[in-house]
Amino acid sequence: MKIVINEKHEINKLVSNEIIRLVKSNPKAVLGLATGGTPLGVYEELIKDHQENQTDYSQVITFNLDEYYDLEPTHKESYHTYMNDNLFSKININLDNTHFPDLNNPESYTNLLEQHRVDFQILGVGSNGHIGFNEPGTPFESITHYVTLAESTRKDNARFFNSIDEVPTKAVTMGLNDIIKSKRIVLIAFGANKAQAIKQLVDGAESENWPVTILKRHPYVTLYLDKEAASLL
Ligand code: PGA
Repeated sequence: MKIVINEKHEINKLVSNEIIRLVKSNPKAVLGLATGGTPLGVYEELIKDHQENQTDYSQVITFNLDEYYDLEPTHKESYHTYMNDNLFSKININLDNTHFPDLNNPESYTNLLEQHRVDFQILGVGSNGHIGFNEPGTPFESITHYVTLAESTRKDNARFFNSIDEVPTKAVTMGLNDIIKSKRIVLIAFGANKAQAIKQLVDGAESENWPVTILKRHPYVTLYLDKEAASLL
């Protein structure tokens, strides 16, 4: 596992440059996308590049990691809305090529992922070590499934809502066994509240109590950390 410790803006450039190179060399690249605060700077760099250099996303295929179960897709905090606002509406992606977990039939998403193996997966990590919404205790063999969000996750995400009571309690997430099948994985972590999860990943053993530790099994992972997220290494 390669570890890069750098400033946020440098990390956003490095990761976006890798995605841009991939899309230029393979116009039909399959991207696994994340939401939350972490990837926003990468998406901004992709948009800037698209405006300046017209990088073509018309055939790119995307799979998002997760979606809240109890929000309408049009809700302002749904991950559909997040992706439209922060990336899809600002590049020339074909919305028919963008995918989110099927809230009525989660397993069908795993079947779809088997047909379109993800070339490049971008990940954030929860303070409790979740990836996607695979909370502590999720089996490493899990496929796309319903989840009840951990209280710590609802607290972490309350900043996007008016109050914690509005944060959904359920979601559908790509499973750990789906995520690990991506050809390339880049995990970004910013801030001291991610330091413990990063320490478990780098120095700890594989454990379902820290879902992120499944990445120890993957041959081609890079961690991009700011110095706060790397502070316990
Ligand atoms: P964040 O969330 O990017 O908003 O910190 C990361 C995650 O929960 O996976």
